[in-house]
Parts: sequence; C-alpha cells; structure tokens
Amino acid sequence: MNNKLKIGVIGAGSISDLHFASYVKEEQAELFAVCDLNRERAEGKAAKYNIPHIYTDYRELLANPEIDAVSICTWNNTHAELSIAALRAGKHVLVEKPLCKSVEEALQIQTAVQETGKTLQVGFVRRYDTNAQLVKHFIDNGQLGSIYYAKASCLRRLGNPGGWFSDVERSGGGPLIDIGVHVIDVCWYLMGRPKPVSVSGNTYRQLGNRANIKNLNFYKAADYDAEHNTVEDLANALIRFENGASLMIDVSFTLHAKKDEISVKLYGDKGGVELEPELTFVTEVLDTITNVSPQTNNKSIEINSAFQNEISHFVSCVRSGETPISPVEDGLNMMKILCGIYESAAKGQEIRL
Ligand SMILES: NC(=O)c1ccc[n+]([C@@H]2O[C@H](COP(=O)([O-])OP(=O)(O)OC[C@H]3O[C@@H](n4cnc5c(N)ncnc54)[C@H](O)[C@@H]3O)[C@@H](O)[C@H]2O)c1
Repeated sequence: MNNKLKIGVIGAGSISDLHFASYVKEEQAELFAVCDLNRERAEGKAAKYNIPHIYTDYRELLANPEIDAVSICTWNNTHAELSIAALRAGKHVLVEKPLCKSVEEALQIQTAVQETGKTLQVGFVRRYDTNAQLVKHFIDNGQLGSIYYAKASCLRRLGNPGGWFSDVERSGGGPLIDIGVHVIDVCWYLMGRPKPVSVSGNTYRQLGNRANIKNLNFYKAADYDAEHNTVEDLANALIRFENGASLMIDVSFTLHAKKDEISVKLYGDKGGVELEPELTFVTEVLDTITNVSPQTNNKSIEINSAFQNEISHFVSCVRSGETPISPVEDGLNMMKILCGIYESAAKGQEIRL
C-alpha cells in the first residue's frame, strides 16, 4: 500500500527549492502538488521535481482531498491566511519563518492549530542544524551551566532581497523580521525558551537598499525589484527575560561594514559557546581558559542538511502525531518579540511584553 504523505508546496520562489529538494529525499513523503500565483514558476518546479498537480489558487490546492500536508513558502503577509485555511481544510502545515506579521495573526493561527488538532511546524531552520542540536545537547547536559547572556549579529553590507521583502505591507519589516528572526530564535531556543518580559530596540533607514552598488552579488526575491523600499536597513535590540537572562542582537540589510558578519554566542556560568561563525566551546581547564573545537562535519550551519532535518522532522511529526520542536507557540512568542522591537523603535522607549 502506498501510504506516503502527499505534499503540496505553496509558493514556488527562491526558498521553495530547499523544500522540494528535501521532500524528494523523504521516503515517507511524495511531492503531489505545487501552487504559485505565477503559473510559469509553478510549472517550472513541477517539471523539475516531477510534481503531478499544478495550481495558481491555493484554495483549489487545499480542496484536493488527497493532499495531507503543505509547505507554505509565500510572502510573509500570506502566512496567516494560508496556514489557517490549510489547517481548517484538514492539512498539516510547515510554514516558513516568520510565522506571520503580527501577534494577532499568530494568536489566530494558534487557535486554528488547537481547534483542528493538526500539526503546525514553524520553519525555524537554524534549530535543525546538527551543530545547533549538538550545542543544545551540551547545554541540556549542564556543560555551560545556566545561560545568562547571548549575543547575535547578522550583518549584511548589501543584502536587501528587494521585491516583496522590501515592501513592509507584504514582509512586515526588513532585516529584523527576515534574518533577525533566525538568530533571535536560535539563541532563545538554546537559552531554554525563557519568557521574554521586555524589549528595547532601534531601527534605522539611512542607506536604503544600495541598489547603486556594482560588483557584489546578493540573495534576491524571485520577483526582484529595487524600486520600492519601505523597510529598515538596520535594527538592534536588547531582550530581557523573566529569569534575568538577556539577549542582544543587531541585523542589517545594508550597512557600511567591512564584510558580512554572522555570529551567535551564548554565555553560561560554567562555559560559553560560539555557534557561529565557527562552532567553539569556551571553558576552564585547571584554571586555564580553554577553547574547545568539536570535530563535526561543518564549522558553521550547513543549510541543505538543516532543511533536510527540518523536513524530515515535519514528516515524522505528522506521521506520529508528536509536537514539532518548533511549534506554533514558539512562532507566537517570536512575533511578540519582533513586534515589540518594532514598537519600541517607533516609540523610542522600552516595551513591556
Ligand atoms: N528559512 C530560510 O532560511 C528562508 C530563506 C528565505 C526565505 N524564507 C521565507 O520563505 C518565504 C518565501 O521567501 P522566498 O525567498 O522564496 O520569496 P520569493 O519571492 O522568491 O518566492 C515567494 C513566492 O510566493 C508566491 N506567492 C506569494 N503569495 C502567494 C499566494 N497567495 N499563493 C501562491 N503563491 C504565492 C510568489 O509568486 C513567489 O513566487 C518567506 O516567508 C521568507 O521569509 C526563509
């Protein structure tokens, strides 16, 4: 009997390839349908990945009773509508980050998950990287003691993807909601998901998208367009947690920086760790501060295998009924943090969550 999960992918742009390629390798799932507003794009992916059903209206895809689960890889402003419609149509959902654009939308998605009992996994892909899981294993086993501080940066000199990413109505914001979400999430997850109590943030629009720059490539939306840009270039924030721990971040789409930078660092009372840019633990050995480099396949995130792990986990949770390690509650919590930072920046004051 063929009891593979039948998967529909909604949104066939840039990131969808990592979903398609990962599902292809899943023995317990098969790519069954693809949907994009742009028919040609959907047809292209259908041909590339041998997908039998093509749609341009997601409602028609959801009306297909054979489909068990969907990946939602569309613009951020559609995540809530599509997730809720999919859940109510009886489908399980893997939704790309961010969960949605606002706390209100996140609460509505959470209600739909609770009422339908279907699986919803948020695509916080950094959690699924093997190095992040290794660090979690070390932290869970007390190797770093209690984590009281974390610090993360994701700075692009030139990296506004244009198109919908730079249209605040469709994206919800710039680098904070697009790439800040990843580094805030992985820190928060590794810190043990403490309750956030306040945020203080700043956003800046000083450089624009630097569309004039030549000789340097960067990630672009499928419908790249540099004309319209209503999002911030840079955001920074301090997030305080109920247990006294704090997290500092800064993220940019454009910045006069010497080079792009990614760093994710956590500090505990027994030791520290740098997950990015290169996995290293810091500890004390016989009164000597000692850096420890684990021998792992990769020093930094390996994005293809991280996506493969994310998709495998989704397929496995759908089949077993277990709750994913990145459930809707975590997506909701992230929206409280992100929206709180934008509110803090707009008001010029700290926001209590
Ligand atoms: N996990 C990651 O590392 C990562 C990386 C990049 C993007 N993303 C997320 O993935 C999502 C898509 O990003 P992208 O870079 O692929 O963008 P993209 O612009 O390349 O592709 C988005 C596609 O969605 C389609 N679309 C939009 N609304 C639709 C609808 N209602 N029905 C059907 N199709 C629709 C568009 O036509 C487009 O083809 C975003 O939420 C983004 O935040 C995640």
